[in-house]
Amino acid sequence: MSQSPKKFYITTAIDYPNSNPHVGHAYEKVVADFYARAHRMRGVDTRLLIGLDEHGQKIQDAATRAGQSPQRFVDEKALIFRKLYDLLEISYDDFIRTSEKRHHDFVQDIYLKAKARGDVYKGFYQGDYCVSCERAYTKSELKDGNCPVHDKPTTPMEQESYFFRLGKYREPLCRHIQEHPDFIRPPERRNEILSRLEDEVLDLSISRSAFDWGIPVPDDPSHVIYVWFDALSNYVSALFQPRENYSRYWPADCHVIGKDIIWFHTVIWPAMLLSAGYPLPEQVYAHGFILDKDGRKMSKQLGNVVDPLEVAREYSVDVLRFYFLRSFSSGTDGNFSLGELEERYRSELADQLGNLVLRIAKLAQRLGGTIRTPGYASDLDPKPTIDDYFRYVDSREHHRSVDALWSYIKRVNAYLTEKEPWKLGEHQRERFEAVIGCAQEALRVIAHLLHPVMPGVAKSIAESLGFKIGALEALPSGPASYRVTPSKALFPRREAPGPAAPAERPAKPEAVDPFSRLEIRVGRIEEVRNHPDADSLFAMTIDLGTEKRSICAGLRKYLDTSDLEGRKVIVLANLKPAMLRGIESRGMVLATDRKDGKVVPVDPGDAAVGELVTVEGIQTNPKPKLGMNDFEKAPLDMLGGVVVHAKKPLRTSVGPVRCDAEDGARVR
Ligand code: MSP
Repeated sequence: MSQSPKKFYITTAIDYPNSNPHVGHAYEKVVADFYARAHRMRGVDTRLLIGLDEHGQKIQDAATRAGQSPQRFVDEKALIFRKLYDLLEISYDDFIRTSEKRHHDFVQDIYLKAKARGDVYKGFYQGDYCVSCERAYTKSELKDGNCPVHDKPTTPMEQESYFFRLGKYREPLCRHIQEHPDFIRPPERRNEILSRLEDEVLDLSISRSAFDWGIPVPDDPSHVIYVWFDALSNYVSALFQPRENYSRYWPADCHVIGKDIIWFHTVIWPAMLLSAGYPLPEQVYAHGFILDKDGRKMSKQLGNVVDPLEVAREYSVDVLRFYFLRSFSSGTDGNFSLGELEERYRSELADQLGNLVLRIAKLAQRLGGTIRTPGYASDLDPKPTIDDYFRYVDSREHHRSVDALWSYIKRVNAYLTEKEPWKLGEHQRERFEAVIGCAQEALRVIAHLLHPVMPGVAKSIAESLGFKIGALEALPSGPASYRVTPSKALFPRREAPGPAAPAERPAKPEAVDPFSRLEIRVGRIEEVRNHPDADSLFAMTIDLGTEKRSICAGLRKYLDTSDLEGRKVIVLANLKPAMLRGIESRGMVLATDRKDGKVVPVDPGDAAVGELVTVEGIQTNPKPKLGMNDFEKAPLDMLGGVVVHAKKPLRTSVGPVRCDAEDGARVR
């Protein structure tokens, strides 16, 4: 396992409570909680800070609209945010609110320290102001006259303001970022900031006088301190009560934030700290965005915001956490799709993990409910898995940690399938005990590694199999015996479909677009070979942008490996995994019949690998030969039979897609 840090102080962005929390807020806290729990498990002195960013005009306006004082308004919102984070089992050690006195005092102090350094001066702040961004833009920064971020009209303003000499810190910051390759994660974000730092860095306006909901400038109370100067300070202000926390935990080891606020965290915040004489944080890690299923950023305006509570209620908190950590690659954007969540629930949770636990609990009954083990999983060495898992914790690639864990779960399942302990007779008891004991030890490892992902499920597994989740160093444990009690299914079969997110909820039953159920993505064939045991199949590795998939396709009759190697294709990605003569196939490459009898893959044109493809206008022109009802019943299975009008290029979200086929050809 890689070297653990001595202590681990991890923080998240503090949320604006101007409206209720959404799935993006929840995602970030779950990611940070994963890293915090993984460090605690390694025995590292860990502290997780989350909180709320309560000042500024945006909040003041929202409070006015609600007919409340700003303080009352944020007090009520704070309850809602905390309730969500408690429900999601975010193991935070502190919850900071910027309207608290401890924060207030520190912000004034850091302001005065920067001023004493000669880094604060009075000037005029002018430009076109966007309240949502709480900042002004120059004419050239506006997009069609609107705010470039919110696409909303701005208001011209000119105000007296205090400025912070941000420009002075451009060079020292460039040097710091260059000398500390891990300061910004992932590396693409680091390059982005370094290239922005090549341009001139303007001084920063750090006060406002047009509203008063904020912390007064200590020596000029007609101004309040600008929200970002105020908000960023929370990471240190939260450590001052009691003061020992500052010496114990600062500098922070990881600030977890969204990619939209990386400039504030990697340039403005470090410059403030340098100016006031505080050490810099070790790392800023920017996660990607959760987009809706069509790849749009979630926003109230679009009505596509997913309520995390609704999803947690329908499945469970742990299932939502698992989905966040498993499906959204660290650092990149991903689409929130209830279809994918449901699919993973069935295949990875119910079939793979749930059944494994049930199997062992049931088999243990043949041993009178007691499993004796040597203390380590002799046939299923977990060390490489544990090493990989924590290596990815350290490189902030949590989805790879979960990947490593799931590979191990599959291996344990395969081990049982191979050893078939259920077939062993009474005279083979010793072998039976050895196999079950080995699986039990493997499950202890699995439950421990699962704890940062799904703390509730990990606990249930431990309770059923008679052990406790403890520190990682307790694995292996030496010879032990465990009292096993069969529990109910961890992931019960679900009859009804999940709750529809607004964006996935059909407006009227007759307007249901069956294709919206399909996850169709652009992929690139990285490797292709003839299937060793099936004459008609190719076995391929296809890069789908967020992951690599093993997919088999029956195209050997028509094409050569050289026709496919490196080629971009369109993949139907949310198919149930199938084993095709010993090779896993998870997805289908779309191809069409041509008039000359050839079959060719559908060409995605210029679309990028990983891009989602939605098929537009397919129901009406012409009508598919199969009734919509047939398709509705089994949308995935039926795709192979759908007849499309392919003379014209297919209209899709990635632009026209050429099927290169005759009208009425089959998409297979
Ligand atoms: N208050 C500031 C942060 C100050 S930190 C000193 C802020 N608040 S926010 O409520 O707008 O966002 C809080 C966090 O949620 C940010 O890190 C932001 O990137 C993240 N997310 C908001 N929407 C998101 C998604 N749709 N997906 C993932 N995270 C996103 O910015």
